[in-house]
Amino acid sequence: MNELDDVKIRNGKSIDHENIVSVMPEWWGGRDLSSSVLKVFFIHFHNTTFIAEIDGQLVGFLVGFMSQSEKSVGYIHFAGVHPQFRKAGIGRLLYEEFYSACRVNGRSIVKSCTSPVNKLSINFHQKMGFEIEQGDGIVDDVFVTIDYLGKGNPKILFKKILT
Ligand SMILES: CC(C)(COP(=O)(O)OP(=O)(O)OC[C@H]1O[C@@H](n2cnc3c(N)ncnc32)[C@H](O)[C@@H]1OP(=O)(O)O)[C@@H](O)C(=O)NCCC(=O)NCCS
Repeated sequence: MNELDDVKIRNGKSIDHENIVSVMPEWWGGRDLSSSVLKVFFIHFHNTTFIAEIDGQLVGFLVGFMSQSEKSVGYIHFAGVHPQFRKAGIGRLLYEEFYSACRVNGRSIVKSCTSPVNKLSINFHQKMGFEIEQGDGIVDDVFVTIDYLGKGNPKILFKKILT
């Protein structure tokens, strides 16, 4: 795809929620994680939630927020790109938009996490310059934090320092 110039990024709105949760199972290869993306994010994290569109069609989204507990951290909760528009730079565009929001809010660190099964996400984050935090376990040769978001639900924790 060489239409990156055609991609428009805007902040998310509550009316975007329904559309996003409806595409998530397909975008996540059949895993239905849509219950983790609540409408409240689009209402109260409007400034740090981004929608990517081409001619009004949803091609990507990022839901993030500024950590209330760690004042130097911005956290990316979920991000996805339409399968037909991947590897064209849209994910990078959305992440960079979030980095800008972090800088505006005085945040110098971006954190995110993913499941060990999501090799695509691991590769993407490493390409984006995220390091993997050491954690307290190892799955498939990668450090995980075993009970990070729930018992027996290990996550790989990513961290990137903004320059
Ligand atoms: C992860 C995801 C958001 C990446 O979006 P994308 O638009 O394809 O990513 P980009 O084209 O901007 O790629 C950015 C960098 O990551 C790399 N990358 C992207 N997908 C990759 C993959 N599957 N394997 C290896 N590297 C990959 C790109 O090559 C690029 O690196 P480069 O600039 O050095 O070439 C997308 O694949 C997706 O939606 N996956 C399903 C949902 C998901 O797992 N989200 C994870 C976060 S919750």
